[in-house]
Amino acid sequence: MTAIVVHGGAGAITLDRHDRLRAGVRAAAEAGDAILAAGGSALDAVVAAVRVLEDDPEFNAGHGSVLTRDGTVETDASVMDGAQRFGAVAAVPDLGCAVALARAVLESGEHVLLAGPAAWRFAEEVGIRPAPPGSLVTERSRRRLAESKGTVGAVARDGEGRFASATSTGGISGKRSGRVGDSPIAGAGTWADHAMAASATGDGEAIIRVALTHAIAMRLAAGSSLREAASIALDDLRRTTGGNAGVIAIDRGGIVGLQLSPAMPVASIVREGAEITRVDHMGDRLS
Ligand code: GLY
Repeated sequence: MTAIVVHGGAGAITLDRHDRLRAGVRAAAEAGDAILAAGGSALDAVVAAVRVLEDDPEFNAGHGSVLTRDGTVETDASVMDGAQRFGAVAAVPDLGCAVALARAVLESGEHVLLAGPAAWRFAEEVGIRPAPPGSLVTERSRRRLAESKGTVGAVARDGEGRFASATSTGGISGKRSGRVGDSPIAGAGTWADHAMAASATGDGEAIIRVALTHAIAMRLAAGSSLREAASIALDDLRRTTGGNAGVIAIDRGGIVGLQLSPAMPVASIVREGAEITRVDHMGDRLS
């Protein structure tokens, strides 16, 4: 059995954008599934899926990221696999493929998180170029529409039973330059271990305070179902912080897409032998 789940961010989405967002997460899930179907790893699959959304200006990651209060793009991303290898980048200016650089940090094994413009030196060493200054800024981000744009992420299980998670974002609109959210923090925006993987979206400060994805993993390890674990952890985030969040998660028994916000585009592709189940929808809202 292989499975991939992709989310396009928790928020309030105007009806006219539903179809575009659903098409985007579907395309991302297809990219990840193609890797899994060919026998590739969960880690390769989640990175490929998130790269699709970073290049899609509809989503708050890479091209189309929300802007800092200085009018610039600074991106955060991380990747984690079931062996608890982790790589992340944070607040890196003009970085359109943050998840690829996070993957390079993971593979290098020297550090787990590189931040700010200095991360460009490492990017150059691994052959990743910055986008031309300002080229990731879209008209929608510039106008700062009230409509919120969420982080993107993917979780997967490969044919060998390994899990992985990846998350990428432009952060929150109007943030201070240098602000780092949950997406590049292990156990906050991204988590994977031998039993599960999860990727979060929403209010970064709230997600960090409750270590959202790690809280789900710990509840699962203590015997909750994946759905119970996600639902209790989100409810705890709401009670503790008053914040908003959504999460996708996968374990050996299934997949979950659950959010506190009005909408979160989710696409999943599950392969069991010859049977393929493709679903794209808005995640389930926790009441
Ligand atoms: N969840 C994205 C952020 O707050 O940066």
